[in-house]
Amino acid sequence: SLVSLRQVLDHAAEFGYGVPAFNVNNLEQVQAILSAAAATDSPVILQASAGARKYAGEAFIKHLIQAAVESHPELPIVMHQDHGTSPVVCVSAIELGFSSVMMDGSLREDGKTPSDYQYNIDVTRRVVRLAHERGVSVEGELGCLGSLETGTGEAEDGVGAARVLSHDEMLTDPEQARDFVAATGVDALAIAIGTSHGAYKFTRPPTGEVLAIDRVRQIHEAIPDTHLVLHGSSSVPQALLEEVRRYGGDLKPTWGVPVEDIQRAIRYGVRKINIDTDLRLAMTGAIRRHFSEHPADFDPRQYLKDGIAAMRDVCIARFEAFGAAGQA
Ligand code: G3H
Ligand code: 13P
Ligand code: ZN
Repeated sequence: SLVSLRQVLDHAAEFGYGVPAFNVNNLEQVQAILSAAAATDSPVILQASAGARKYAGEAFIKHLIQAAVESHPELPIVMHQDHGTSPVVCVSAIELGFSSVMMDGSLREDGKTPSDYQYNIDVTRRVVRLAHERGVSVEGELGCLGSLETGTGEAEDGVGAARVLSHDEMLTDPEQARDFVAATGVDALAIAIGTSHGAYKFTRPPTGEVLAIDRVRQIHEAIPDTHLVLHGSSSVPQALLEEVRRYGGDLKPTWGVPVEDIQRAIRYGVRKINIDTDLRLAMTGAIRRHFSEHPADFDPRQYLKDGIAAMRDVCIARFEAFGAAGQA
């Protein structure tokens, strides 16, 4: 059944596990995730970005989610708006039937320019008031996602591009997190501890811990009742990159967040782990392979089936690694 993010993450906190939040844009992605969740008995967080809503169309997104809930009544399913850039985006998601929204006030409405702290509080507080009236959960974001390797943030201008940031400046400040949660009342908070979006996270293979795990612990101590969220949590498995390359894809050398780092972060309070890139890689590799091995096939169901199977494998691996398997 459709449940709020608060419900799923409260359970995760009580039993000490993490829940992967997978991005969806189309039927096949929803099917792959639900099939993996059903096979492992896991709670489900489906999330749609503004780009996903635009790609699929509002009615398709709404009914894809409803179809997921209808076909798997035994599973708790959250329908979450990923990276809402304004209260308007969040309210329209609520009207579409989402049970959870992210108000990402760490950036201005353009989704690129870093915002000031007061702006972040104002928009997030407004969304919390509107959402909670309707039983919908809210995720906020505080901090600057980006590469600890280079000290550059993801934001296009402002502090990110203007100068190289120190390790400490890149990370979410625990005291500010406490203040932000008190001022806004968010259910979940996305934090910056060294992850970044997309396939190109790290330029070298990891040697030891790549995330600021100590900081997770400090933030969790400061806001023990607010669930911590990790964006940019794809592990970018080398095997998936190899598969894409073997069948003609052009991907530069890159490394993601090791699953072991995420497992440590879960131990210290992270509950929602956002994953999109790994699923994109899995589906692309499988479809490329199908085209190469079966050049005469032209029924989309034939190659999409392979894409679904590859994506499903990644989802199963994450449900199991994060401890969500068996918790539905
Ligand atoms: O955080 C971004 C997610 O990977 C969704 O990406 O905005 O291209 O749909 P998108
Ligand atoms: P990845 O690009 O690491 O998969 O992160 C996705 C994400 O954070 C969606 O909000
Ligand atoms: Zn994100």
